[in-house]
Amino acid sequence: MLRVFADPERLSQAAADLIADRSQQAVTQRGRFCMALSGGNTPQRTYQQLARSPLRDRVPWSQVHLFWGDERCVAENDPRSNLGMARKALLDHVPLTPEQIHPMSCAGDPRAAASAYQQLLRDFFSPEEPRFDLVLLGLGEDGHTASLIPGTKAPRETASLVTPVQTAKEDFSRITLTVPAINLARLVVFLVSGRSKAKILRQVLWGPTGQFPAQLIVPGKGEIHWLVDSNAAGQ
Ligand code: 6PG
Repeated sequence: MLRVFADPERLSQAAADLIADRSQQAVTQRGRFCMALSGGNTPQRTYQQLARSPLRDRVPWSQVHLFWGDERCVAENDPRSNLGMARKALLDHVPLTPEQIHPMSCAGDPRAAASAYQQLLRDFFSPEEPRFDLVLLGLGEDGHTASLIPGTKAPRETASLVTPVQTAKEDFSRITLTVPAINLARLVVFLVSGRSKAKILRQVLWGPTGQFPAQLIVPGKGEIHWLVDSNAAGQ
């Protein structure tokens, strides 16, 4: 499903609305709502919307568990930290206990951190497969999503749920959910905003398949919603 919104504000509003709806649905059907948050700039406004009335009042926070789709291995107070961004925009403003917040901590060896997070997911969802109710994703201009970055091994990693990532141009490592982990989700929501994303969005949605990591996201038993603004949908 592709929905186009006039501006980033309406896009964020609709995204927060969808999250609130699905949180209620999941709690009604399964007793809890498990969501993997995205990093980057685009979801920040959505988190702020969720942290305020009226949307905040529609989310059954006591049954919500928050995870991350990817993280940059930097300190939480580093502006590049996905946890840090989510903490300021959402976590500090909603009634969640520390037991409901499952950040990707990757101090030290990223490979060990990735395995630790995979074990955390297996333990949390056991005896079932780790299956998120909602995975929030963005889209990079190079076609990456989460930290499934072209030119790294991560997009092709299929033996694990979480994998470390090191790019040549960054002085920090990352860890990310893998394609199989994301494709287990009940709902994947891509948020894409801005003119700089118009070309890649057209290529990902209408270009030949298998070109970009974002095209590998095809939930086997789930849905994909693309929420984009008119600038991103320009082409
Ligand atoms: C990350 C993100 C990444 C992001 C895209 C889009 O940690 O880097 O998870 O996948 O979603 O890079 O980022 P913007 O929203 O900032 O354009």
